[in-house]
Amino acid sequence: MTEAILLVGGKGTRLRPLTVHTPKPMVPAAGVPFLTHQLARAKAAGVEHIVLATSYLAEVFEPYFGDGSSLGLHIEYVTEAEPLGTGGAIRNVASRLHSAPDDPVLIFNGDILTGLDIPALVATHQSSGADVSLHLTRVADPRAYGLVPTDASGRVQAFLEKPQTPEEIVTDQINAGAYVFRRSVIDMIPAGRPVSVERETFPDLLSSGAHLQGMVDSTYWLDLGTPQAFVRGSADLVLGRAPSPAVPGRCGDCLVLPTATVAPDAKLTGGTVVGEDAVIGSGVRISGSTVLAGAVVDPGAVITDSLIGARAQVGTRSVLTGVVVGDGATVGPDNELREGVRVWCDAVLPEGAVRFSSDQ
Ligand code: GDD
Ligand code: MG
Repeated sequence: MTEAILLVGGKGTRLRPLTVHTPKPMVPAAGVPFLTHQLARAKAAGVEHIVLATSYLAEVFEPYFGDGSSLGLHIEYVTEAEPLGTGGAIRNVASRLHSAPDDPVLIFNGDILTGLDIPALVATHQSSGADVSLHLTRVADPRAYGLVPTDASGRVQAFLEKPQTPEEIVTDQINAGAYVFRRSVIDMIPAGRPVSVERETFPDLLSSGAHLQGMVDSTYWLDLGTPQAFVRGSADLVLGRAPSPAVPGRCGDCLVLPTATVAPDAKLTGGTVVGEDAVIGSGVRISGSTVLAGAVVDPGAVITDSLIGARAQVGTRSVLTGVVVGDGATVGPDNELREGVRVWCDAVLPEGAVRFSSDQ
């Protein structure tokens, strides 16, 4: 049975303020911590033993997932004293693996929502005889990712992490953040110091003649590293566009968790999620957004493509589009907030403090 490593130690800087109190994989998407979807998909692919490589806010994972038995998994936790980077984190959990030297081990970035056919990646790995196999996907703008050009047989020719110059943009195929490693390759990563699998391990393997195999799979794929992407991913889970066995309820236009209160005339569309104990007032319209636990949206507010943090409040008639409101923050009545605004945790915006539109 294939075992897996999940990399969940990153600081989630680009998602702040969502990640001030919560590590990125624990931010709720479609009603449950995002990591639940990845664990459930791994389980569905036949994985039973998963090691979580934790660092930032490491203490919150184990109280939630425990030994993994509620998901039918056996989960172990390994925390880095200092962040070891992606490669260092992989090496740091090697002692917990049961696999033999030639066995395949699955490794996942902890912030990817994808419909990847995991067994197909393992099958590609086995049939190609590769040392490492990588899931690749195509994106319009590859600059924020690891570029992975391959030859006609899918063999990886180079690995260019976050290219800086136009000449380096040689392909639209990127590292999608799911790998199969031959177990012995994991043991060869240097121990006890930070290592980037993207900047050090993959280039070193390639220059030593190792066989890295790419598998392009054009199924649903999203890196949930930014607020816009996170909100999109959560909505796609609710709408059923992104597959997960862990969505708590039927897929549809919205997901309202059982202890939430929603006024009968409120309109929730586009994959909107309303978390536990949240309260949605009369006449509110929310589209493609996530309202986390205990948040309050007052009557007449209009929220689009936004994330409202736990226990936050959005005042009456306020209009939010493409916004993140941090945990415990208050947006007073009659504010108008647009694309990219991040209201920090516990901040208070007075009534009518921010406007974009001129008065009528
Ligand atoms: N344990 C541990 N320790 N985990 C870490 C550390 C660390 O020091 N640093 C990062 N991680 C985890 C993050 O939590 C995340 O799940 C994963 O490693 C990747 O880190 P990101 O910070 O999300 O990297 P990225 O999105 O900029 O780039 C990576 O993903 C892209 C695909 O989304 C790279 O792998 C790119 O090559 C790839 O294209
Ligand atoms: Mg990422």
